[in-house]
Amino acid sequence: MCGIIGYKGKKNAKDVLISCLGMLEYRGYDSSGIAVFRNDKVRIVKTVGRIENLKEKLLRYDLDESNMGIGHTRWATHGKVTEENAHPHKVGRVTLVHNGVIENYKEIQEKLKNYEFKSETDSEVVCALIDSYYNGNNELESIEKATKELKGSYALAIIFDGKDKIYGIKKDTPLILGIGNKEFILSSDICALLPYTNEYIVLEDDEIVEIGDKFNIYYDGIIIYKKIEISDYSLEEAMKNGYDHFMLKEINEQIDVSKKLYSKYITNDFINELIPDLSKYKRIDFVGCGSAYNASLIAKYFIDKYCTNGEFYCNSYEASEYRYSNHYFDKNVLAVFVSQSGETADTLACLRMCKEEGIDTLSIVNVISSTMARESKYILPMLAGPEICVATTKGYFSQSYICSLLCLKLMYRRRIIDKDELLRIMEELKKLPQYLETVINKDYKEIAKSIYKNEDIYYIGRGIDIYSCYEASLKLKEISYIHSECFASGELKHGPIALLSKGTPVIALLSEFSVHEKVINNIYEAKSRGAKIITIRKESINIDKNLSDYDVVVPLTSEFVQNLLMIVVCQILSYEVAKLRKCDIDKPRNLSKSVTVE
Ligand code: F6R
Repeated sequence: MCGIIGYKGKKNAKDVLISCLGMLEYRGYDSSGIAVFRNDKVRIVKTVGRIENLKEKLLRYDLDESNMGIGHTRWATHGKVTEENAHPHKVGRVTLVHNGVIENYKEIQEKLKNYEFKSETDSEVVCALIDSYYNGNNELESIEKATKELKGSYALAIIFDGKDKIYGIKKDTPLILGIGNKEFILSSDICALLPYTNEYIVLEDDEIVEIGDKFNIYYDGIIIYKKIEISDYSLEEAMKNGYDHFMLKEINEQIDVSKKLYSKYITNDFINELIPDLSKYKRIDFVGCGSAYNASLIAKYFIDKYCTNGEFYCNSYEASEYRYSNHYFDKNVLAVFVSQSGETADTLACLRMCKEEGIDTLSIVNVISSTMARESKYILPMLAGPEICVATTKGYFSQSYICSLLCLKLMYRRRIIDKDELLRIMEELKKLPQYLETVINKDYKEIAKSIYKNEDIYYIGRGIDIYSCYEASLKLKEISYIHSECFASGELKHGPIALLSKGTPVIALLSEFSVHEKVINNIYEAKSRGAKIITIRKESINIDKNLSDYDVVVPLTSEFVQNLLMIVVCQILSYEVAKLRKCDIDKPRNLSKSVTVE
């Protein structure tokens, strides 16, 4: 959740740390800080709020002559959002930044009676623990001894008074070493490295990296050699490039993502062998959190609709629930993990649980250097490129796209559809970029203007639309802070209709032809209670002129493609509403992009 950084090289460390923290800010933005090393001394500057606040504060300090330092951007877990709780922390001769959660920090704190603690954080306790083992010369050993006592997760960048080196170690949360030209950057993710290098090494649990003029990686006290990877992300992909917000850029990038997915997973107009054949399994469990869970519901919907029978079924679970519920596992079960970051703590814990059970695991994941990608038996890369906006758009899009391909392949293998039918659907997927252009280029500002002042907005639909509604409603609430819920439209009169009053916006998704008349009836029920109706419908579904106050028509395509268009309309609408409400769209309050704690 927090972002950590370390820099050692020839450049002005403060500037590099600030620029990298800017790129890690989506991981948390409650407070930030840096520590730079100069003339054997460590100087720390930190503040609550955004990196902008830190930049402003730094104007009052002269830290320019340092070429080494560490930095942090925080998503608060232990302790309130205060300057004392901001990182870096320094205790004795040890200064560090930490991402993760130390579960046994209270016990350790009890033991460290000689130390005085200034903050409420678990991280400060780690500092003291390392210091307690430090004899002025045994940096590696003191880190090793201290971390052996920690329960929980951590990525740490550590510096010692008087020592011109940075140390990094991690467990269950990512840490990457970027290797530049005579410079090294330790980072929570690849994006922050991109302005400096695209060469990196992914650290594994309990490896310690020691960064001086060169670097060494140790495991159990012994130097090990690891492969240097090359990132194919470009810096351009991680910048706003003229867009007002990353969210808008990423919504637009869905056109390119759809092209990339098509060329990777479809060969000669046919789903290729990279999409696995699931027909050998008897049960498939999809697991994810938030939008990734919503995307997995698309898979469940299609698999239920077309493939479920007495011998085969599929389920979709929120990882935080899957983890603590009872499951029967055998070799006929496949678990599919859906995650943009590949680091979400609950999803990762489920993946590890399934591995322990000995079942096959498949991850649909964007960050291919991530823990999930490395630990899964099979992976399907999402090819969405770096997603910086905290609220996912192109990530969800790609996850849903791949979920549909998995189902289509299964349908073909089980002869639920024939080759011609599959080819027709592939033809529609090929046209998806065009359809997306049409949808993205429409103007949703008028609709946004008519609803942005409301404090409650509801989404309704049936069939697949209800699953798109889950995602649409999540998107709206997380970036605009408007209370939003969604209901299967048939459920309205079983309770939720009581929430409607004059002018309450109800957004109805209409792409399920088989039940569209039912949804229209439900819309009339809402309308007669005074609701303001917005319909988002596919071209072939006709409605009365007076049914809705605003009507968005989406090009008609296969049902496997249609949901990808419907959701894009909802993403843009949420974006426009949040913009009118002057929300911090890319960094909504209280959220973090990579949820590496339970
Ligand atoms: C919502 C959103 C989150 C993530 C969730 C899982 O816009 O982005 O709900 O989908 O935190 O994250 P990943 O996909 O990284 O596992």
